[in-house]
Amino acid sequence: MTGMTPAIRAAKLREDFPLLSSSQEQGPLIYLDSAATTLKPRCVIDAMVRYYTEYGGSVHRGIYRIAEQATAEYENTRREVASFIGAETTDSIIFTKGTTESINLVAYAWARNTLKPGDEILITEMEHHSNIVPWQMVAKSTGALIRYLPLNSDGTLDLNRSEQYFTPHTKLVAVIHQSNVLGTVNPVKEIVKLAHDAGAVILVDGAQRVPHHSVNVTDLGADFYVFSGHKMLGPTGVGVLYGNLEILDKMEPFHGGGDMIRTVSMNASTWNALPYKFEAGTPPIAQVIGLGAAVKYLSDIGLDRIAAYETQLTAYALKTLREIPDIEIYGDARERGAVISFNAGSVHPHDLSQLLDQDGIAVRAGHHCAQPIMTRLGISATTRASFYLYNTFEEIDLLGESIRKAITFMGG
Ligand SMILES: Cc1ncc(COP(=O)(O)O)c(C=O)c1O
Repeated sequence: MTGMTPAIRAAKLREDFPLLSSSQEQGPLIYLDSAATTLKPRCVIDAMVRYYTEYGGSVHRGIYRIAEQATAEYENTRREVASFIGAETTDSIIFTKGTTESINLVAYAWARNTLKPGDEILITEMEHHSNIVPWQMVAKSTGALIRYLPLNSDGTLDLNRSEQYFTPHTKLVAVIHQSNVLGTVNPVKEIVKLAHDAGAVILVDGAQRVPHHSVNVTDLGADFYVFSGHKMLGPTGVGVLYGNLEILDKMEPFHGGGDMIRTVSMNASTWNALPYKFEAGTPPIAQVIGLGAAVKYLSDIGLDRIAAYETQLTAYALKTLREIPDIEIYGDARERGAVISFNAGSVHPHDLSQLLDQDGIAVRAGHHCAQPIMTRLGISATTRASFYLYNTFEEIDLLGESIRKAITFMGG
């Protein structure tokens, strides 16, 4: 444990997560797939049940008690989220369905209306599909060109020849904060500076960072920062787009409908103020309220404690896996998050994850929605174990034992 940061007592905290004490066919659940989605603590589930059972009205419209309470709780989450990521104002916090929708919002409402033929969109070889495909669609419709920042062999970004990539043609940089495959944490502040020095706008995909480490968007200085509720103990169906107010203000809306307008006449409409201009229709109220409970839960524990605990877990997992003959681990960045992708001898990741499942261990197998990185590594798939605050060192021991058993079983 670093400095004076008090340790996480995972054994105690696990009691907050109903799925960890549920009985599975194979015994207790060993959940090592938090990079895909996280388990939910009771307080998040309760907050959503309370909304539906006690004050389930719509927001921003009703002038009666339960609608006013729903609006207050919904807007309270906006304040909690703003403070959680260090945003200066709640106007810059837009609720979306998740990271994917947040990126698409920027792609449609900013990039499609701004980029021209010859402009360049700079992304990296380690992006998730949700930070590749929307830009490919933008490139197709605007004539802009996509360029990829390459990787070093240790899974870090190669920024040595940055002047070749950050040029006067670069209009948008979209970069993942922490890789969902390699665990690499990118030097985002440095990349923000490179982007701004080139006159480009920058979007950071924080889906894998915000749940695990404190993030201060004001300090980072990115124009857009996006993440998902379900990867940080919150429900599915809610995410966040943080945006630079000046840019958001100039952008056209993404979706049209109720709540995002100021006036509507037969022929035309005018837009509501930020952040409502980008929240058309009845929003995911219960999910936003659930996200508020998740943010409070994480804040009460403290992101510094969570990050310190995960650093220990990851170091232990790397050591455990490296002791297994024939394991290949992808990515060796000095600064990395709690996710490890690997292959075990000639055992296919799908077979391995099925065998691990027989021991109650849930890991992910496949390309992890990041096919370009698989191409770069010359493989088609990996097995991925990812950890969060509720995982224990004992679970990592069991993972190691189960992998050894699977390799022996498969002869491989
Ligand atoms: C780095 C990264 N970006 C984006 C996404 C997409 O998130 P969502 O499916 O919640 O929109 C994920 C999900 O796995 C991810 O890991």
